Amino acid sequence: MQESAVKAAKKPAPARPVSQAAPQPAANDEAAPDKGVVRIAALGDLHMKEHAAGYYKELFTELNDTADILCLCGDLTDFGKTIEAENLAEDLRHLKIPSVAVLGNHDYECGQPEEVSRILHQAGVCMLGENAHIHKGIGFAGVKGFGGGFGRRMLGAFGEPMTKAFVKECMDECNKLEIALRSLHTEKKIVLLHYSPVEDTVVGEPEQIYAYLGCSRLAETIDRYEVTAVVHGHAHRGSYRGKTTKGIPVFNVAAGIEKDNGKQYAVLEV
Ligand SMILES: [Fe+2]
Ligand SMILES: [Fe+2]
Repeated sequence: MQESAVKAAKKPAPARPVSQAAPQPAANDEAAPDKGVVRIAALGDLHMKEHAAGYYKELFTELNDTADILCLCGDLTDFGKTIEAENLAEDLRHLKIPSVAVLGNHDYECGQPEEVSRILHQAGVCMLGENAHIHKGIGFAGVKGFGGGFGRRMLGAFGEPMTKAFVKECMDECNKLEIALRSLHTEKKIVLLHYSPVEDTVVGEPEQIYAYLGCSRLAETIDRYEVTAVVHGHAHRGSYRGKTTKGIPVFNVAAGIEKDNGKQYAVLEV
């Protein structure tokens, strides 16, 4: 796998939205796997605002020529407002390649993440969860994830119910991710998260908030499967590159993170 921005334009079939119902075989938007290199663009933390309609129009137009599929890694809106999701949906009209996405914590702020998902789903974005998606023979699985910290400092489910609930949120996300990964039988698999599965890619943020930026439990789930690469957001001041204990590459693709290609988004060639 290499990373780079490349030039040839392709227009594969639009992403097929996947329902949030019980786990099913991953939706496959291509009849047969493509043996060639697939250019996967990844971007998190768009934070679309109420009065920022059109902000991502140019970026989405550019992606049509630089990637075959776009992974959106959460915090797609700033506060999870309907108008923000609608603004993003309008900008997404300029994106002609398929897209898959997970939500971030900001998309939950107004208490209506389902509405944000619904609007983006209607705009043609495949919202991941327990159900995975396949494009050009590559499997995509994704969940929001949650905090909890890393390694031996990870928070345990001990003591007060609130502590147990905090830990359970990440465990529930891990279970959803596991269901999605188990349904994928593709040789190559990409995992989308909002929160980080490793400490490497939150380095640069204040150490005091590491526990709120991700959790090693996510990496434990990822390491049980032959995952090709992980992309996530959330840590705006973190680091671009990291890896899990088993060596699976992890990329922090939050919009503010400096990428190798000098763009807001990363492109992985898989
Ligand atoms: Fe963010
Ligand atoms: Fe976030």
